[in-house]
This record gives sequence, C-alpha cells and structure tokens, in this order.
Amino acid sequence: MVAHQNLGLTVKVRILAGQLGKIMKKEIAVIILAAGKSTRMKSATPKVLHKLCGRPMLSYVLDLVRSLKPEKVVAVLGHEQKRVREIIPGNVKITLQKKLIGTADAVKVGLTALKGFQGSVLILYGDVPLLKKATLQKLLDYHFTNNVDATLLTAQLKKPFGYGRIMRDKYSSICAIVEEKDADEVQKEIKEINTGIMVIKKQKLENNLKRIRANNQKKEFYLTDIIEILAKQQLLVDGVKADDAKEALGINTGSELAQANTLMRQRINEVFMNNGVTIIDPANTWINFGTKIGADTVIYPFTVIERDVKIGKRCLVGPFAHLRDGVELKDDVTAGNFIEMVRSKIGAKTFVKHFSYIGDTAVGSSVNIGAGTVTANFDGRNKHETFIGDNVNIGSDTVIVAPVKIGKAAATGAGAIVTRDIAAKTLVAGVPARILKKRG
Ligand code: UD1
Ligand code: CA
Repeated sequence: MVAHQNLGLTVKVRILAGQLGKIMKKEIAVIILAAGKSTRMKSATPKVLHKLCGRPMLSYVLDLVRSLKPEKVVAVLGHEQKRVREIIPGNVKITLQKKLIGTADAVKVGLTALKGFQGSVLILYGDVPLLKKATLQKLLDYHFTNNVDATLLTAQLKKPFGYGRIMRDKYSSICAIVEEKDADEVQKEIKEINTGIMVIKKQKLENNLKRIRANNQKKEFYLTDIIEILAKQQLLVDGVKADDAKEALGINTGSELAQANTLMRQRINEVFMNNGVTIIDPANTWINFGTKIGADTVIYPFTVIERDVKIGKRCLVGPFAHLRDGVELKDDVTAGNFIEMVRSKIGAKTFVKHFSYIGDTAVGSSVNIGAGTVTANFDGRNKHETFIGDNVNIGSDTVIVAPVKIGKAAATGAGAIVTRDIAAKTLVAGVPARILKKRG
C-alpha cells in the first residue's frame, strides 16, 4: 500500500512482523460512535436514527458489525440516547458520553467498556452506513497480516469537501490527518480522505488518546489527531483505500442523507433484479429495506414499496403504486395504477387495477376490485377491518365502510356504499347498498 520509509533493515523487520501478525490471534472489539448532536442535519431526530430505505442508518452499521463476529461491541451514545438505545441489540454494550467534545473523547468513553480486552479496536462511525463487509474485511486482514499499529480506511474522492484529509510524508507514509476546518488551501486540494474508520491496537490507542489536545477550530478532541502522535513515535500507521469511494459517504446534512438513500436504493433494486424481478425503471422505483419479491414480478415506475412488504411471483405492481407496511400480495396479483395499500393481504390472482385504497383488509383469491374502490377503515377514532371472500366482484367506485365482511362470490354494483355484511353469492347496489339478487 505504502512505500515504507527506510528500506533494508526496517523492511526485514516488518516482514518478520507480518509473519508474526499472521499467527497472532485476531482479536477484535468494535466501538461505534453515535453520540453526536448532528447539528448540521437541523433536525429534532438524532442523526443516526434518520432512515435509509425505511431503516435507521445506525441499524446498517450494527448489522455490519454483527457480520464480523467481534469479541465485543460497544456503542457510544449521548445526544437523545434514550431514543437511540431502542434500536441497539442486547449484546452491544452501551456507554454514555456526557459532554460531546469530540471523537477522541467518545472513543475514550467506549474504551471504559473494554477493560481486560487486549487485541485491536475497530472504530466505526454511526453516520457512515454504506460500508460493506468485504471492505472492512480487507482493512482487518491488512492490519493483522502486516501487524500495523493503526490502519485507516481511506477513500479517493473527486470532491473531498468536509472530510479529514490524509497527509503523507515524502516516503508517502501517512503522517497526519487534517480536518477540513483546519486545512490550508494546499491541504484542501488533497483528494484522499479519512473515512473515519480505523483499526488500532488497543494499547496504542489507550496510551495516546490522552495526548490529544483540543487545539483546533472546533475546540474539540479529534480522534484523527492520534495519527500524527503515532507517526511521530515511529509506530506503523498505514492505510487501505476503499475500492468504491461511495461506501465512505458520511452523512452530516439532509443532502448527504438523500445521496445515501439513493445509493442504498440502488443496492436494494440490484438484488431484486439479480433474482428475477423486473424493475422497469430502477431510478424511479423506491423499495425499502426488508421487502421480499418473487421472481417474474414486474414493478412499473414511480412505485413506492415500504418496509417488509411481501410480494409473490408473477405480480404486476404500479405504475404509481404505494404499498405500505403490512402488505402481502400472493402470486399473480395485480396492484396497478394509483393504488394505495396498507396492512392488507391480497389473495392469489386478484386484480386491484386502478385508483383504489385498500387498508386493514383481507382479500381472497381471484377477486376483482373495480376502479376507484375505497375501504373506509377509519371512523375518526378507530381503524376497522374488511374481509372480502374469494371470487368476489367489487363494482367500480364502491365504498366499503368497515367493519364489513363480504362473502364468497358476492358482488357490488358500481357506486355502492356498503355499510353491512354481504352474504355469499349476493349482489348489492345503491346508497346504502341493498340486496338486488342472489348470484349464480
Ligand atoms: C469525522 C472525522 C473526519 C472524517 C469524517 C468521515 C474526526 C475529528 N473527523 O468528521 O476526519 O473525514 O468523520 O465521515 O473524527 N461523535 C461522538 N461524539 C462526539 C463527536 C462525534 O460520538 O463528541 C460521533 C458522531 O455521532 C458521528 C461520528 O462520531 O457518528 C463522527 O462525528 P462527526 O461530527 O460527524 O465528524 P465529521 O465532522 O463528519
Ligand atoms: Ca460525520
């Protein structure tokens, strides 16, 4: 990665150290920094709870950590900690940073939960949620294989504004990190940035954190200052560059949140498209985390599918469909133009093709729901449920005032307002709907 300083003896020593590194036990503890105030978001919601594809950004970081199977995981919370702690799994230790005086102080707080631990500490930021496991694995492998004291994950950005810049000496070894606010014009031109992610030997971290001073523009204790402190002691500092700089995106503003959402959405859409789902226009299709979609389903543009929705095989969804939480479509369902569904199950081969609101409803199989049908599920105070049996035919513009049960093979005439249960095989019509006749 980096041309090492004086060749010869040092290189030999490092190769030996590298071999030792391979047989060293790879003990890892993780500290996740999530105490910050998120001033730049200008929002009452703590930054790490802002959502990417329907899920708090911190949850993605927590998933990533779980996949690495570390010895110990510590989250450092502070601002609005009560709300943040709700999404932290039980096996993650929570520590509280009382005053938010910088990332170095936050790490110091995290270390209080790692007494007795001897390996290396992986530091992750709660506002860098797009990182992939393979990238972190590469960072960790490099760190252990080469027995580095502190290994940084860096990235090359065309527009590095806002990030800490990686300073390299004349041997191109990393010698410091300079924050945007403290950088001079020349330093601002540096395109290699600090992602905030680093893995560092715990002993070296502990010994040197206390040397960090808040002598910078923000008057904060910067974790990044530890790099210069280590380098000055001739300790081995090195960097691994992320192959895909997009993974390094740190979210500080609403605009960065939107960028991260777009990237996460692309990832989600890719997975579906690689598994037999046709998405006509991925740039205009919004599918949230946790949704499942069967093969040969086609999603038309401007469709919004919220969290944990289940869609079967060979369905047609959209254009302009909004499937909200608790929706399940069985196989061969059409949920067409301008449909909103919430907390509803739709049976196989059922058509809901145009302009409908279906809420708190269980619909059977082979049902046809005519254009403009509305389930009126809310009486101003409570929500009520609708049941629609198999083979029912709902006429256009029917309003179903829940709670209502519509029996199998029943039907409603166009414009019916259904206020009472309808028996099987019965046709109703009018306002309020009255029985017209028994069906076939
Ligand atoms: C930080 C890095 C910068 C890097 C960038 C990458 C420092 C000093 N700078 O800058 O080099 O390029 O991330 O995205 O580390 N936090 C706490 N307690 C605090 C302060 C912050 O827990 O007292 C947490 C925040 O919640 C956040 C993370 O640490 O998750 C980073 O803090 P933030 O203020 O966003 O740092 P940046 O200015 O983005
Ligand atoms: Ca940040």
